Amino acid sequence: MKTIIYAHRGASKQAPENTLPAFELAYESGADGIETDIQLTKDGIPVLFHDENVRRTTNGTGFIQDYTFKELQRLDAGAWFSNNYINTSILSLEQFLSWISNKNLLLNLELKTNVIPYKHIEQIVYELLVKYDKLRHTVISSFNPNSLLKMHRMDPTLTTAFLTSNKKVDLINYTKQLGAKGIHIKNRLVNESLINKAKQENIYVATYTVNRPSQLMRCYKIRCHAIFTDLPYVAIETRELFEQNIIQ
Ligand code: G3P
Ligand code: MG
Repeated sequence: MKTIIYAHRGASKQAPENTLPAFELAYESGADGIETDIQLTKDGIPVLFHDENVRRTTNGTGFIQDYTFKELQRLDAGAWFSNNYINTSILSLEQFLSWISNKNLLLNLELKTNVIPYKHIEQIVYELLVKYDKLRHTVISSFNPNSLLKMHRMDPTLTTAFLTSNKKVDLINYTKQLGAKGIHIKNRLVNESLINKAKQENIYVATYTVNRPSQLMRCYKIRCHAIFTDLPYVAIETRELFEQNIIQ
């Protein structure tokens, strides 16, 4: 099985993260899937945004949870990246699902509930996935184990993954206890032994964020289930080189 390539926040080195231009570039690059982050607005609308605060990637200030979706849409989420993206707006999850609905793309929705445990975000996201018939193409991940437990209880058939940037002593068992099917781990912590041990327990291992060809090659060699990259076209080119070398 080839390593799955997810565009991390879209093609986020080429266009402003978590915006339509970044997702379109990821799709055009041939990425297998898209990873995106979800926060909740004051009026309970899930939006695609990495930080809790809008300061870093928009022309606004303050927290997502203090804005209605309508107010958020007035912010510019592209100008910080480059003048080519002036007037790019923040997307709701629903707008994104509508865009992705006719595309053959996998989806990794990361619930950003580790800083602010947004009320009912799990239920709201789940219902949208049902509405757009995307449950079978989606992995829900989170650094917050409670979000994963809630999701798993809501629908034990849903694929969930535990996100971590630390190596817990008993990471594989911990992941299983959450009902999760995967571990999404920081790239410096991934190794072949973890991947093989996890595989024996029917747990897959994916890793973030992998941009350099040498790092990508290593992930392909140790048979990571998936990688998250800001540069999907580089990951695809490198994967093609890797596959050709194995066949020869
Ligand atoms: O889902 C992988 C990765 O996105 C987790 O970290 O901070 O980039 O959302 P972050
Ligand atoms: Mg993320």
